[in-house]
Formats: sequence, structure tokens, C-alpha cells
Amino acid sequence: MKIFVTGSTGLLGHQVVRLALNSRHEVLASYIGQPPASGEPIELDLLDLQAVKPTITKLKPDAIIHTAAYTDVDGCEANRDVARKINAEATKQVALAADEIGAHLTYISTDYVFNGEKGRYKEDDEPRPIDYYGLTKLEGERHVQASSREWCVARTSAIYGWGGEKKNFATWLVDNLSSGKQVKVVTDQHVSPTLNTNLAEMVLEISEKRLTGVLHTAGASQVSRYEFAVELAKVFDQDSGLIKQAKMEEMTWVAKRPKDSSLDVSRCMRLLKSKPLEVSEALRVMKEQR
Ligand SMILES: NC(=O)c1ccc[n+]([C@@H]2O[C@H](COP(=O)([O-])OP(=O)(O)OC[C@H]3O[C@@H](n4cnc5c(N)ncnc54)[C@H](OP(=O)(O)O)[C@@H]3O)[C@@H](O)[C@H]2O)c1
Repeated sequence: MKIFVTGSTGLLGHQVVRLALNSRHEVLASYIGQPPASGEPIELDLLDLQAVKPTITKLKPDAIIHTAAYTDVDGCEANRDVARKINAEATKQVALAADEIGAHLTYISTDYVFNGEKGRYKEDDEPRPIDYYGLTKLEGERHVQASSREWCVARTSAIYGWGGEKKNFATWLVDNLSSGKQVKVVTDQHVSPTLNTNLAEMVLEISEKRLTGVLHTAGASQVSRYEFAVELAKVFDQDSGLIKQAKMEEMTWVAKRPKDSSLDVSRCMRLLKSKPLEVSEALRVMKEQR
């Protein structure tokens, strides 16, 4: 199968590319800036809205896995035009391209489409984003649903793991603790931490089986950021005493965060061969991958 992957240098995207190549697919790996380590590099800036559809339709992939996004939650709040263009308008162009060439489209969305008042969200719970990142990702979902025929919206939560251009929560935490630095981590924000390689397996399976609809593809545990940090410290043999408890209101964040955006992954458990992992199992896998 010929798969077009956007965000091929990202925390999730680079693992999707690696896994798809290992599964003997032809991979067109779209990027801006630094070309990806593997896959056939296709330069495409999603801010260049007019280029998105023609670039994809010319290459005629069988499937598209759209992982690229403006993922900086505070950045989205401050740079609203850029956030809307990348997360919503470019996604519409990707969906129109998929529709024109009959490609299956997997769009990676987020737990931040929910307001966080309930937690353990199911696929048919009403999205009510409280920040601009969540709002623009939800607009992206709606464009996918309206503009393409064969689509899957795969929502995920708090991705972590090795690789990618930037640090993520897990690598940031382990780096700080291993150099003896104290960190402040919130006790009142709950998520479903998701290991990037586990997510890449679920996403590739969705694409290969051409599954459709909304699917919560995340880790199987609902934990606070603090509980997750303590577990990480334990698995990576670090001093959890360096992790100081904090509340969300103490953080100097620009955007609001949902209090509990954890996802119910039971549909994914039923439908997929690659199952969402509990935190303890995922961290064991991550340690082995080091
Ligand atoms: N990270 C999380 O905790 C989390 C949680 C829930 C949902 N998600 C969703 O999961 C997906 C993957 O997230 P991630 O953590 O892997 O993201 P990431 O590491 O921030 O990677 C984002 C990718 O998008 C690319 N990108 C950004 N702006 C672009 C543009 N204008 N044109 C083309 N490409 C552009 C980036 O390229 P450069 O690196 O070259 O800029 C990078 O490859 C996203 O759709 C995100 O919304 C993430």
C-alpha cells in the first residue's frame, strides 16, 4: 500500500513512518524544515494551503495518515491564525485530496476537544473545547467528516516516547531527574498517557483495515500527570523525591487545560489487534526501547 504520512518528523509521525516501512508499505513522508530520517521525503508546508491538495492528489496514495499539527497548546492560544490554518484549514485540504483520489484518511485528533469535566470520554460524548488548540483540532475533525468519504478520526492523549524533534513529558522528566533537577508536576490534571510506538501500531492498523468513524486510540490508564511522573521515575530508576506536587492554577500556562481529558478506549480494545497499553506495561516497553 502507498501511504502518505504528514508530520513525519514528529513524535508520532516518525514512528508511523518507521512501522509502515517495516510492514513493507511504500511511505511518502511529508515534512517542512528538516527532512525525515526515513520514507520518501515530500516537502509540504501546510501553511501553503493551495499546495496541499495538488501535492497529495498528484502522488495518489491509497491511504493518508495526517499526524501533522500545530501542537503547542500555548502557542495556539497566542497565534490563532496559524493554529486555525494548520489544524483546521490545511486538514480540510487533506480531506478534499483524500476524497478526490479515494484514499482512506486517518486524522489524528486530541482529548483536548473535551472540556475535561467528566473524564473517560467515549467517542460519542459531546466535544466542548476550552482552548484554541482543542477548538482548531475539533474544526479539523469536522472538515474530515464533511469533506472525505472514508475517514477515521483517531483521538489520542498525552503522547510520549523516544524520538521526534522536541522533548515530550516523559523525556523531559527523565532528563531533569537524571541531572538532579527538581520539577513541578500537577496533581489535578488527568490524562491517558500514550506511548508513541503503541499509538503508531494502532494507527497503522486503522489505515490498513480502512476502519471508519471516531476511535479513541490512547493508553488504557487514567492517571494524573503527577502519578505518571512518579511511575516514570520508578521505572527509570530516578529519585521521585525531586518531583514536587503542584496545582494547575500555579502554572504559568497561557491556555486553559482540561482537568480530566482521559479517554475511554474500550471500542479500540474491541476493534483492534494492537491493544492500548496500561502505563506500567507501556513504560516497561519504553525502557526496553532505550
Ligand atoms: N503530543 C501530544 O501529547 C498529543 C496529544 C493528543 C493529540 N495529539 C495529536 O497527535 C498528532 C501528533 O502529535 P505529535 O506530538 O507527534 O506532534 P509533534 O511532535 O509536535 O509533530 C508535529 C509534526 O507536524 C509538523 N508540522 C507542524 N507545522 C507544520 C506545517 N506548517 N507544515 C507541515 N508540517 C508541519 C511538524 O514538523 P516540524 O517538527 O518540522 O515543525 C512535526 O513533524 C497531532 O495531530 C496532535 O494534535 C498530540
